[in-house]
Amino acid sequence: MLNGKKILLIISGGIAAYKSLLLIRLIKQNGGSVQTIITRSGEQFVTPLSVASLSGEKVFTDLFDLTDETEIGHIELSRSADLIVVAPASADIMAQMANGLASDLATTALLATDKSVLVAPAMNVRMWENAATQRNIETLKNDGVLFVGPDEGAMACGEFGLGRMAEPDAILEAIGDCFETDGDLQNKPLFGKKVLITAGPTHEPIDPVRYIANRSSGKQGYALAKAAVALGAHTVLVSGPTSLPIPEGAELLPVETANEMFDETMAELPADIAIFAAAVADFRVENAADQKMKKKNKDDVPSLELVQNPDILATVAAHKSKRPTLVVGFAAETENVIENAKLKLARKGCDLIIANDVGHGSDVMGGSENTIHIVSKNGVEDWPQMSKQEVADKLMAYLVDQLGVEV
Ligand code: CTP
Repeated sequence: MLNGKKILLIISGGIAAYKSLLLIRLIKQNGGSVQTIITRSGEQFVTPLSVASLSGEKVFTDLFDLTDETEIGHIELSRSADLIVVAPASADIMAQMANGLASDLATTALLATDKSVLVAPAMNVRMWENAATQRNIETLKNDGVLFVGPDEGAMACGEFGLGRMAEPDAILEAIGDCFETDGDLQNKPLFGKKVLITAGPTHEPIDPVRYIANRSSGKQGYALAKAAVALGAHTVLVSGPTSLPIPEGAELLPVETANEMFDETMAELPADIAIFAAAVADFRVENAADQKMKKKNKDDVPSLELVQNPDILATVAAHKSKRPTLVVGFAAETENVIENAKLKLARKGCDLIIANDVGHGSDVMGGSENTIHIVSKNGVEDWPQMSKQEVADKLMAYLVDQLGVEV
C-alpha cells in the first residue's frame, strides 16, 4: 500500500505515544519506511531504543547533535521524507506549529519541510476544547495541515470526550489517503463537483445564556460529508453546534442560528448537489434579550414572541441563477411519514426528499441507525434500516447516479 514511501514520524509527549510503536509496525508491514524524531517530552513515554528496534532506522532527538547534523542535517531530514506524521500531536506541539516556532528538532523539521504534514492529536478533552487549541487547529487547517482524529472515548486521565488519539490503523489509512495521486482523485465520480451539506441543529437565542434547540446530533449530515469526500467532491459542511469531529477532507462552516446557516449556505452557491440534512429551527425569538432574563416575582412568566426563520432549502431550490443540479431535502416526521414527505417535496421545490420517522421509540434523532424512504416525483423507494454511514454511502452513490456522472 505504501510502496516504499518514506515517513518521518514525530512522536511528541503524550500517553498515546505507545500507540505510535504499533503505527511504526503497521507502516513497515504496509511497505513504508519510518524515520523518527522523538521530542524531549515524547522520550518520557517511549524510548529511542524501542522506536529504533521497531523502525530499524536511526532515531533523532536532538537539534544540536553534531554527528546527526554532519550526517544528515535537519533540513535534509524533513525534506527526504515523503510525508511527515505527528503522532501523538500534543496541544503544545500544535501551538508551536501554528505559530511557526522552531525550538527543537521536531518543530524545526516541521518548519523546514516542503512536504505534507498529517497530525494525530492526543490530549485531555479540556485541552482539546480550549479556545487556544481550537484556534491553533483552525490556523493549521488553513495552512494545509491534515488531521486524523481525535476520537471520542475514555481517556487515560479518567475523563471522557474528544481527544483520544486515532487508532494506529486509522492513522495508517489517513497516511494512505495522503499518497492518493491526483490521478486517483480525478477518477472519482464527484471530482470537480461541489457538494454542499447542511447538518446539525440550530440554536436560537432567548437571552445570552438560553436558547431554543432540537435533538439533532448532526450524525447523518456528517456521514454524508464523509461519503461525498470519499467520492472526490469538494465538500462544504454548514453545521449547527454538534460534538462531532470534522470529517476529514470536508470544509466545515460552523454556525449557530438558522439565519447564520442561511447566510453561509447562500454564500456557498453555486454547487452541484445541495443536501439539507440540518434540523433547522422553524422559529426564533423575535427580540432575544441582551441580558439574562430574571424572575421579577414568583408569578412572573415571560412570554416569548416567535417569528419564522427563513426556509433555506426552499430558497435554494427556487434560486433563479444558482440552483444546484440536485436539491435534496430531509423530512423528519413523527406521523404520516410518506404523505407528509410528498407534500414537502412539492412545497419546497426540491428534487428528492429523504423521509425518516423520528417518532417516539424510533431512536433516529441522535442514534446511529436510520431507515429512509426516498421520495421523488417518480415515486417512493423504501430502504432497509442501516447505519447512518451506510445510508450516507448508498445515498451519495444514488445521487451520483441521478447526476448522470460517468463512473
Ligand atoms: N429546512 C431548511 N430551512 C428551514 C426549515 C427546514 O432548510 N428553515 C430544511 C431541512 O433541512 C430539511 C427540510 O427543510 O431538509 C424539511 O425540514 P422539516 O423541519 O421537516 O420541514 P419544515 O419545513 O420545518 O416543515 P414542518 O416542520 O412543518 O414539518
